[in-house]
Amino acid sequence: MRQIELPGTTLRSSILGMGCASLGSRYGTSTGLRALEAAFDRGITWYDVAPAYGAGEAEPILARFLKGKRDQVNICTKAGLLPPHQGYAKRLLMPVARPVVAKLKGLRSTIRQSGATANTRLPITPQMIETSITRSLVRLGTDRVEIFALHDPAPQDVNRDDVLRALERVIARGQARYIAVAGELPAALAGAASGHFSLIQTADDPATDPLDNILATAPGPIATVSHSVLGAGGVQARLAARLAGAPEWLTAARAAGFDGTTETVAAQLLLARAFVANGSGPVLASMFGAGHLAINITATRHNAVIGAAARSLVREALA
Ligand SMILES: NC(=O)c1ccc[n+]([C@@H]2O[C@H](COP(=O)([O-])OP(=O)(O)OC[C@H]3O[C@@H](n4cnc5c(N)ncnc54)[C@H](OP(=O)(O)O)[C@@H]3O)[C@@H](O)[C@H]2O)c1
Repeated sequence: MRQIELPGTTLRSSILGMGCASLGSRYGTSTGLRALEAAFDRGITWYDVAPAYGAGEAEPILARFLKGKRDQVNICTKAGLLPPHQGYAKRLLMPVARPVVAKLKGLRSTIRQSGATANTRLPITPQMIETSITRSLVRLGTDRVEIFALHDPAPQDVNRDDVLRALERVIARGQARYIAVAGELPAALAGAASGHFSLIQTADDPATDPLDNILATAPGPIATVSHSVLGAGGVQARLAARLAGAPEWLTAARAAGFDGTTETVAAQLLLARAFVANGSGPVLASMFGAGHLAINITATRHNAVIGAAARSLVREALA
């Protein structure tokens, strides 16, 4: 797996990172642990988690995975969102319901729309920040994380004095090595411009290439972590449909080494594009589903020239 040095930090990571938002919710403990081990065996050294992920189960499951390999991986956890409250009955039913829900996309979106899976946003205060990291470390079974991020903050909260002081105390106590903003573009830009944060994590939309903007805004070297490179706004499905209707693009992609079904080619093109678009940190993907890890790892193998060609093709196809 190709490695990347993160600008402005001493961190080094695989270019592909494992997103753990579904760990413990859509995917149960044993499937989740198997996928995490497979990712580690294939060279993935970045694991993105949060207290809210997996309905609150992602951090404790990740803790089990971390045993014996803590020093070999980077962990990013966050503060600002809590998982939805789950009653006893719902917790009992979860393992029974999970396989059905995982298979039925329509049911997943109905459950999402009902609000049953919505996280609770916490007001960003010094106390929330310090309590959150302390609890995350207990759940993760470790004494520090590499990155501690504000989770989906409002842009005006990012550079508040009291917030920055609390984050400084987290660093001073050794609970985290670097602080980050993990949120939507306005908050990401506010964090980058301030110069207070070492990392900025945000969605990378192929139509707008937001990471260039973030790097241009930052006063010094900064690391960027990108996500939603496949799924946001149905991009992968749109690209696959475009490829299916334009055989010359599909032939060109296949000639450049992007193999498989039209959907697989689309996923790999989007990832190859994302690795070129983000030269300053890992690209996150959720890869617990059958075959996704292997497809996404294949996409890491293309060189920069092929990646740049994928970037142009994706831009043109989605225009
Ligand atoms: N505010 C934030 O900081 C923030 C916001 C959003 C996301 N994130 C992080 O980023 C991670 C990834 O989130 P994302 O939004 O970017 O999701 P994603 O990786 O684009 O995944 C979306 C869907 O695509 C599927 N998928 C993965 N590889 C695929 C492939 N090769 N072909 C077809 N489908 C594929 C995934 O399936 P499976 O999971 O079933 O394999 C998942 O259902 C999250 O887990 C989280 O850690 C952070």
